[in-house]
Amino acid sequence: MIVAIDGPAGAGKSTVTSRLAARLGFIRIDTGALYRVVALLALRLGLPPEAEVELAAAIGSARIVFRGDHVLLDDEDVTLSIREPAISLSASRYAAVPAVRASLLELQRRLGRASDAVLDGRDIGTVVFPNADVKIFLTATADARARRRHAELLGRGADVVFDDVLREIVARDHQDESRPIAPLRRAHDAVLVDATTMTIEEAVDACEAAVQDRSRLS
Ligand code: DC
Repeated sequence: MIVAIDGPAGAGKSTVTSRLAARLGFIRIDTGALYRVVALLALRLGLPPEAEVELAAAIGSARIVFRGDHVLLDDEDVTLSIREPAISLSASRYAAVPAVRASLLELQRRLGRASDAVLDGRDIGTVVFPNADVKIFLTATADARARRRHAELLGRGADVVFDDVLREIVARDHQDESRPIAPLRRAHDAVLVDATTMTIEEAVDACEAAVQDRSRLS
């Protein structure tokens, strides 16, 4: 079974997807991490988004592997480096490059087909797995998402102000929603989960209910 969870930055997708996958006994595939690894790789190699041919070649020869909650790039554990705020906006910029999306498409499909899986991202239910068994669009207001992200960053000891976090979220929404290729949008058959006033557990419950509904129907 394939469960696709899409939605904007900061809606709690990562935590909700991990917990849902654990409840269901499915693997979790964090497709945002793939775009983040590509951004890290591109910045290290000094490749701008316009260098499509070189980017495709670099992705083709990179070995990106998920090991539990960790992400490895050519055997280097990059789990923490790809979470740097600077990488977030870059990932969104490189994610608008057609050659980058094409290079990651097959990898995502291969990973998803390997076993029952929950995949989270921006275009899983619309492009990567348009026939996914269950599609969920997990969202919340920009303000609620910025508040959550701000608290998370403060908790990690970062020195950030709320307005900057909100600005970054709004900029990333705009980039992800307005790109011509595979923009962030709700699939017509996706269940909407608006987590603005939900706790994480409530959001996981709502997603699990969507999966159970679907299992009852089939
Ligand atoms: O989910 P995230 O914040 O880790 O994702 C980082 C960026 O990657 C996000 O701003 C847009 C891009 N992305 C994408 O375009 N398609 C996906 N399926 C997942 C992420």
